[in-house]
Amino acid sequence: MPGTRETSPSVELGCKDLLRITDLAVHEILPLLEDARRLKRDYAPWRHAFAQRSIVLLFEKPSLRTRVSFEIGFAKFGGIAVYLDHETRPIGQRESIADYGRNLERWADAIVARTMKHGTIEQLASNARIPVINALSDLHHPCQALADFMTLAEHGFEFRHGRLAWVGDGNNVCHSVIEMAATVGCRLVVITPEGCEPSDEVLRTAEARACRTGASIEVTNDLSKIAGSDAVYTDTWVSMGQTETPELAARFEPYRVDAALMARAGADSLFMHCLPAHRGQEVTDDVIDSPQSVVFDQAENRMHAQNALLLHLLSKDR
Ligand code: CP
Ligand code: NVA
Repeated sequence: MPGTRETSPSVELGCKDLLRITDLAVHEILPLLEDARRLKRDYAPWRHAFAQRSIVLLFEKPSLRTRVSFEIGFAKFGGIAVYLDHETRPIGQRESIADYGRNLERWADAIVARTMKHGTIEQLASNARIPVINALSDLHHPCQALADFMTLAEHGFEFRHGRLAWVGDGNNVCHSVIEMAATVGCRLVVITPEGCEPSDEVLRTAEARACRTGASIEVTNDLSKIAGSDAVYTDTWVSMGQTETPELAARFEPYRVDAALMARAGADSLFMHCLPAHRGQEVTDDVIDSPQSVVFDQAENRMHAQNALLLHLLSKDR
């Protein structure tokens, strides 16, 4: 961010890249979310912040929200986003991932990558001198979690006292939500079908952070643990790149978020989903279309949270 006091980032980030939420220190996340709120109120002071600058979007999987929010978001700063479609030809096939990164750093100011394997993003990050932002991998979706906690705060969820329930697959989005909960100090219960629990490595990393922040993370298959939750978050039963089977669908069936399950959470509990939603599968229409649903606020906030992140990461080069 060009350097007037009004437009300066409120904190200097220690990381070059954002590959997962724990790349950000506890003291960095709250100011970052505050800057996202400032942007949401008014972009005018930053409209030339990235004139003559550019980011490259590399996507091996489809996207609506992530692609559009990065493209339109970067244009709000006067910059240019270039989209490279890798859905049919994975990154690393035509030339090595390392060479890909070494080329891109010569033209672009940052790489935003959505990849099948988390290792691809790690390789890009270790070979390119410019910031690399994870736009979803098989293991993490940090931009989503930043927007989600910005949304929770907007709806009165207090990080230090609030209780969030994750219901469904212990997947990439779940991992980033776990790491955010551990970072901001909230209570999180992760309720999954048997065999769909989050990764042990993510839980260990989050626990280490939770010890310092006072967060609590519980993992269970027991749906009764949803009681007393201020917000309920779910995601698709089958993530991109995975195979849907009748056996898997049967395992998830009891974990569908419907009005009865929301009532067990609490009368005022918010409903969250990263989208795209598979209506009738993981969530019913009456829940996702209810006044308690904040899913489109989450989608909107993707842009503001990512833009705050870009301002912080790119201003470090200057
Ligand atoms: N939530 C999310 O990442 O949406 P897209 O897959 O449409 O980008
Ligand atoms: N878990 C989902 C999230 C989509 C934004 C997937 O990986 O497909």
